[in-house]
Amino acid sequence: MISNIKYMSGVKSLKDVDISGKRVLIRVDFNVPVDSHNNITDDRRIRAALPTINYCIDHNACSITLVTHFGRPKGAYDEKYSLVHVKKRLERLLNKNVEFIDDFEKSKDEIATCSLERVFLLENIRFHPGEQKNDREFSKKLASICDIYVNDAFGTSHREDSSTFGITEFVDTKVAGFLMMREIEAFSKALEVPVHPITLVVGGAKISTKITLLESVLKKIDKLIIGGAMSNTFLKALGYDMKSSLYEADYVDTAIQVLNEAKNSGVKVYLPVDLVVTDSIEQPIDIKVVPAQDVMDTFMAVDIGPATVKLFSEVVGLSNTIIWNGPMGIYESDKFSKGTFKLATAIADSYAYTIVGGGDTADAVDRCGESENFSFISTGGGASLELLEGKILPGFKNLDRKE
Ligand code: 3PG
Repeated sequence: MISNIKYMSGVKSLKDVDISGKRVLIRVDFNVPVDSHNNITDDRRIRAALPTINYCIDHNACSITLVTHFGRPKGAYDEKYSLVHVKKRLERLLNKNVEFIDDFEKSKDEIATCSLERVFLLENIRFHPGEQKNDREFSKKLASICDIYVNDAFGTSHREDSSTFGITEFVDTKVAGFLMMREIEAFSKALEVPVHPITLVVGGAKISTKITLLESVLKKIDKLIIGGAMSNTFLKALGYDMKSSLYEADYVDTAIQVLNEAKNSGVKVYLPVDLVVTDSIEQPIDIKVVPAQDVMDTFMAVDIGPATVKLFSEVVGLSNTIIWNGPMGIYESDKFSKGTFKLATAIADSYAYTIVGGGDTADAVDRCGESENFSFISTGGGASLELLEGKILPGFKNLDRKE
């Protein structure tokens, strides 16, 4: 059976169609993080879409209409989620004027007017109630403003929304943008034609969000490193008393199952041997490093300890392919970031093909200045996870296919 990655890499890309004189609609994912003043704190997703946008400009598209969501508004206008600040950053990065469209139905004629190099940005598509319902009528309306649909929103390609999925029913030519193709190529290199040993590093808060991932990749990988709060559930499963640490009591049995399946598949599992523990996350008075089995009463694990960093670093140093999803602790706080940052450096320093998925992990890698030293940093959080789980992402499903 053909794998999900092989299936997705069989779609046509922008390069396979003639866009000259055509109205091109590009679904991008400009759902970027912002601070409390609405300043964009990481514009990677906007930069990642530039090759596709520039290609359309350079190949004489009649008009280029960019469509994205931002945040999770409730299907109606909400100033907090307006794309005004995104437009500014986009103009700066494109070095070009971008026209803002509040209501695409009213601006239909404007978009159809052929004037080369015009770039439009629609206001947050999630202000329309039909978008997340994948409403057929709404999809049809959106489709009516373009001749060619390009999906370049990898980060949203796991959503079955109108602009990522439903629209394809009403457009004759629908292809993937360059970011979508780059993402698939990167994961393909890690999973379809990998150089062994392959190590999967997982972290983050919950085993429940990554259980499908673990179950589906155990057959493909050689080593599994588990850190972050997720590893507390595994340590609990080994019989350790995790005291006030965050763990998922409902998933202790699942953790045991994963450990057994890993053993049956010949996958070596690495768990923390020591932990950084504290009495409080917000106002820590006492921070200590303890063996994983010796967490004190009222204390909680917030990072991996130095012996664990050493162990995990040795494992990644001996790997040829490394896939990383999820931090090793509460890396946002300086006091609890060492484990994640040191592991990031160890992975960056390895000679392996290294791929990072998930917003938090990408952010951690960025914060410790190692972004340039990874082979590929995915723009997808949920999307990269579902891809690793073996799913065909809806954003690829109905695109035109190569012969
Ligand atoms: C993301 O940030 O993961 C994507 O933009 C999808 O956003 P969503 O989870 O709100 O659908």
